[in-house]
Amino acid sequence: MTPTLLFSMPGNERLTTELADQLDCETGKLNTRQFPDGETYLRFATDLNKRSVAIVCTLAHPDEKILPLIFAAATARELGASKVGLVAPYLAYMRQDRRFNAGEAVTSRQVARLISEAFDWMVTIDPHLHRYGDLSEIYSIPTRVVHAAPLISKWVKANIEKPLIIGPDSESEQWVAAVASDAAAPYCVLEKVRHGDRDVRITLRNLEAWQGRTAVLVDDIISSGRTMIEAVRLLAGQGWPPPVCIAVHGLFADHSDELLVGAGARVVTTNSVGTGRSEIDIGPLLGDAIKAIESVQPRL
Ligand code: R5P
Repeated sequence: MTPTLLFSMPGNERLTTELADQLDCETGKLNTRQFPDGETYLRFATDLNKRSVAIVCTLAHPDEKILPLIFAAATARELGASKVGLVAPYLAYMRQDRRFNAGEAVTSRQVARLISEAFDWMVTIDPHLHRYGDLSEIYSIPTRVVHAAPLISKWVKANIEKPLIIGPDSESEQWVAAVASDAAAPYCVLEKVRHGDRDVRITLRNLEAWQGRTAVLVDDIISSGRTMIEAVRLLAGQGWPPPVCIAVHGLFADHSDELLVGAGARVVTTNSVGTGRSEIDIGPLLGDAIKAIESVQPRL
């Protein structure tokens, strides 16, 4: 078998190199740029004929990334790649998992179809599985999901004395329960109702019984940050010092990380999106998942 070749879409170079070192496989060169009219130019500068290829591309700001990614996968096939896999640490569009209002696009399904048609396999980290039980409900290719909870628990154990793990909404319970159990800490889950993209109401129960602990909010995604900001505000109202806010994926729309830090919170994420708030390296788990799905062949 020929060795696996890893390619990085722009912005994913650091993780791609880390994965190549871990997997002992080669990285290839993929040049991309924008034409003056905004269209994408793309050229593989490494021969990939008969090679098994994986493309690394996290999908924050997905609309500008998905089309170049599909071009890259299709070109890799045209140039003779024997297999084309996708390593997408953050998998976008998973929250639009239902037609909430008549006429809406269920974009999770449509993105799944595009990716499934372009790639042979996909590896990702904690996709937002809420109304779908498993990625196989919408993805027709083999997928492997890496869970950040053990690494988050490890971070909590190493950095926080007497934590109280708090999930800001019922959807977060899957992450919160796993983190709390590994960190041997108590946890609770709040109630949230979202009225709009930036309009979130949370009901904070009385947490007096846990006073003296450090509040650690854990969620899968911080996007607009309204969920975390509202939870931080309510905790302050009950006399709690500013909490630690941990998310698997820090998207930080509207500079929400700065707003949280401005409110006194400490913000911590994994490197799935590669922002300056990344304190938890998911690379080793991602490498293991690629190995498992792809049976990676080392350099010759
Ligand atoms: C919700 O379903 C997710 O688990 C997160 O709570 C949500 O995506 C956070 O979004 P935002 O930061 O915009 O409140």
